[in-house]
Amino acid sequence: MKPQPHSSSTTEQTLRDRFSRPIHDLRISVIDRCNFRCTYCMPQEESGHYKFLDPGNWLSFEEIERLVRLFVACGVSKVRLTGGEPLVRPNLAQLVSRLCPIKGIDDLALTTNGSLLSRHADELKKAGLKRLTVSLDTLDPLVFKEMGGKKADLAEVMEGLAAAEKAGFEKIKINVVVKKGVKDHTLMNLVRHFKGSGHILRFIEFMDVGNCNHWSTEYVLPSAQIMKMINEYYPLEPVKANYEGEVANRYRYVDGGGEIGFISSVTQPFCGNCSRLRLSTDGKIYTCLFATEGTDLRGPMRAGANDQDLRGIIENTWKRRDDRYSENRILIKSHPENERKKIEMFQIGG
Ligand code: GTP
Ligand code: 5AD
Ligand code: SF4
Ligand code: SF4
Repeated sequence: MKPQPHSSSTTEQTLRDRFSRPIHDLRISVIDRCNFRCTYCMPQEESGHYKFLDPGNWLSFEEIERLVRLFVACGVSKVRLTGGEPLVRPNLAQLVSRLCPIKGIDDLALTTNGSLLSRHADELKKAGLKRLTVSLDTLDPLVFKEMGGKKADLAEVMEGLAAAEKAGFEKIKINVVVKKGVKDHTLMNLVRHFKGSGHILRFIEFMDVGNCNHWSTEYVLPSAQIMKMINEYYPLEPVKANYEGEVANRYRYVDGGGEIGFISSVTQPFCGNCSRLRLSTDGKIYTCLFATEGTDLRGPMRAGANDQDLRGIIENTWKRRDDRYSENRILIKSHPENERKKIEMFQIGG
């Protein structure tokens, strides 16, 4: 893999990993619990295997804020709050108001399943949250429940989305995980619904994150096929990436209907310029979505480490980083002896 240059704001002092990738993007999982049970993340039938952290093991908001300031000093400028379902964490808006004023953060976003948004959209906006991503896989209420579990209620999510619009969130990203054969017939409904809405629909290839979602290539519908299908009805043209290393390939409707994106981690991996670091609810940092182990920051922090010590741990972890799982997926899958236990998506966020 060739090292990739990053944004022009990076300097000689920029912290880089073994493939010369800078650290740029931090995703914080604020809670590992969720009120949904999506088949691709936390399938209901595997419920016996999920062990959730006790609240005493969660990083406090003070601890998260302290670490974020250190990550920013290391080069992070983009922060996303995730879960589990982040809005299940009590008083999340308080964390947003702590992070929002930190100098050096250009972008603060939240990924949510939308079910609790009608209650929280207003306070999140007032606390300074800039952007919102809502997971919404289908507009068919029965398929929605099939994919999201007993508590997944499409009407609640649609109300949440409306509340977010009312609160003033614009260009909301709508994440659609595509599991081949499950809801192919409902994809065009999503396209029709969101075209012209100002929001940005993104189709995501089903990935083999974690150990519970029964992933197989049979369930992967390549983004290129979805793009071709949409293009036949509504011609699309490519749009330049917002920043180098952007996860989604962006397109726009030629007729002015707005933007749409495709996240093709299986068929077109994007490890080459991956600059994302993940912080788990219990304070471990992970350098890849498919990592096995994280590096603990909470232990040293609670044992009295100073900022310099903690920054040293972060820097050494990033410098050692050589992850490129998605590029190696086929190799790994064709030699099952190379398979290892992975962190679950709900522990480090989407
Ligand atoms: P912004 O550019 O900040 O708007 O967000 P994004 O395009 O990175 O999208 P988001 O953070 O919502 O990520 C969308 C989805 O892409 C996630 O839910 C994951 O499924 C997938 N994804 C994000 N980051 C990675 C990554 O580093 N590796 C892989 N393989 N997939 C990722
Ligand atoms: N494959 C692809 N994306 C996934 N997500 C969760 N599990 C998977 C998976 N197996 C993503 C979805 C969801 C976000 C929280 O995580 O985009 O919106
Ligand atoms: Fe919950 Fe999101 Fe996982 Fe679905 S994908 S189970 S909404 S954390
Ligand atoms: Fe980054 Fe790992 Fe995803 Fe590759 S597989 S893009 S290294 S998080």
